[in-house]
Amino acid sequence: MSLTDPSKASPAAAADPKAQDEGAPAGGPQGLGKGLTNYGDNGFSLFLRKAFIKGAGYTDDALSRPVIGIVNTGSSYNPCHGNAPQLIEAVRRGVMLAGGLPVDFPTISVHESFSAPTSMYLRNLMSMDTEEMIRAQPMDAVVLIGGCDKTVPAQLMGAASAGVPAIQLVTGSMLTGAHRGERVGACTDCRRYWGRYRADEIDAAEIADVNNQLVASVGTCSVMGTASTMACVTEALGMMVAGGASAPAVTADRIRVAERTGTTAVAMAKARLTPDRILTGKAFENALRVLLAIGGSTNGIVHLTAIAGRLGIDIDLAGLDRMSRETPVLVDLKPSGQHYMEDFHKAGGMTALLRELRPLLHLDTLTVSGRTLGEELDAAAPPFAQDVIRRAPDPIYPAGGLAVLRGNLAPGGAIIKQSAADPVLMEHEGRAVVFENAEDMAQRIDDEALDVKADDILVLKRIGPTGAPGMPEAGYMPIPRKLARAGVKDMVRISDGRMSGTAAGTIVLHVTPEAAIGGPLALVQSGDRIRLSVRERELTLLVDEAELARRAAAQPVERPRADRGYRKLFLETVTQADQGVDFDFLRATQTVETVPHKR
Ligand code: FES
Repeated sequence: MSLTDPSKASPAAAADPKAQDEGAPAGGPQGLGKGLTNYGDNGFSLFLRKAFIKGAGYTDDALSRPVIGIVNTGSSYNPCHGNAPQLIEAVRRGVMLAGGLPVDFPTISVHESFSAPTSMYLRNLMSMDTEEMIRAQPMDAVVLIGGCDKTVPAQLMGAASAGVPAIQLVTGSMLTGAHRGERVGACTDCRRYWGRYRADEIDAAEIADVNNQLVASVGTCSVMGTASTMACVTEALGMMVAGGASAPAVTADRIRVAERTGTTAVAMAKARLTPDRILTGKAFENALRVLLAIGGSTNGIVHLTAIAGRLGIDIDLAGLDRMSRETPVLVDLKPSGQHYMEDFHKAGGMTALLRELRPLLHLDTLTVSGRTLGEELDAAAPPFAQDVIRRAPDPIYPAGGLAVLRGNLAPGGAIIKQSAADPVLMEHEGRAVVFENAEDMAQRIDDEALDVKADDILVLKRIGPTGAPGMPEAGYMPIPRKLARAGVKDMVRISDGRMSGTAAGTIVLHVTPEAAIGGPLALVQSGDRIRLSVRERELTLLVDEAELARRAAAQPVERPRADRGYRKLFLETVTQADQGVDFDFLRATQTVETVPHKR
């Protein structure tokens, strides 16, 4: 018996457990014969495995097919994945149409609003769960169903490390709602209305009405937040079917994408199309290009860095900044623009965008279909007139959405999403108003006695990878209430934390190294002056070196610690933002490539 192509095995042959003792076929065992439980007798292990699964009513014919695992991240705590049952049904249909055997299995599921202390704290745990369950269970390919912010990166990190053919299916975006005639959606409008409520522009009854309308269906946030960003960059990486990023969660298009994903997974299993063949340095350059062109979430940089790191590919922030200077923002979606994900889908989605970016892309990268990105674009439907995805000569924003800052305050780099920032504030020098940690900020930010003016710079320390821990999206500091009431909408804000991809403002993030491990951010004091120059890519603390050395000597670093459990593992092994906030032992042991390359 050969398990090399299980779809061709006869039921009788598949039923012969001793076949496992005949030696593994080239490329190793396939189908149910993969990864046998160790009882010291492989034939017995397969015999036992089949006996148990036959308890669910399977025939030898079914069990002889390529096995396609389907990662089920449905959870009542995760409304962003609320359509998981329908998607699994459609994937199963696609798998069976192509002659495979679908087997779904659970992993943990992480939702932004239901994860304490942060979803980022749990991303690496989910990636480990995904990797080990793909590795432990027999499957010839795996369909990863994710969607909410951290789930797609966690799944791609795990799949990249597991090395089994893998294809990503996202749950798709939620529908938009309406508040008093105005279209609204999570979560840019969540923040905008909450800001108005804080400024006493709307009352408690109205904010309660808004709360009912922001999330109009299951699915992921409806703007170009982290979930939408990761969906788009995953398609650019080649890890999902063409056109798979944008269909909203509750549409027939989304179900058809799921069915196509199932059939594609079977073909990938037969071709043994493993992630390392798709996730190349060029593929990551394409993904970064798309991240910039969509005005994507700053979190996308951290996640792409983590995924690439699993394969020994480093992402160079200086190269990203270079790329940013030559990449226009073309997608007119909130928070940088006006529209929502369902509009992006109706406008042609990623196909339309990739076609527009074609001169800037590597077209010879492989995708899950087995075709190159260029071949997929050649096969795509023709363009049509629409006003969501701009033509390259007519961008929303002329040069990249993101800028990488350096200076004595961020020797390892910091990020600003300039497409969502106030142009007036991007060249700014001001007085620091410092909060030592998130609790300090929560206690004092709305204090009427707080010494703060509109042209000050808010600084928040210790919300980095180890500081909070889990690098919370607290970088979007609220405008102090007394200034908000006076009409102040934006201020320069600096932290070592992250910001939701749905947020906007002149906000410097990911300051590296973080304050909690002794980064220079820890040394800033209220009253210091800071200079931000996005044009010069500069972030400078205007305090002389002798004074900084004196402050450093006076406050020895005490890296956060924990006594046991996951928190101990996290605090002892998590890396900084420039290494994707992954655990050091999960990254590849050697760097094989650094991207982006100079063009
Ligand atoms: Fe799940 Fe926004 S909270 S995608």
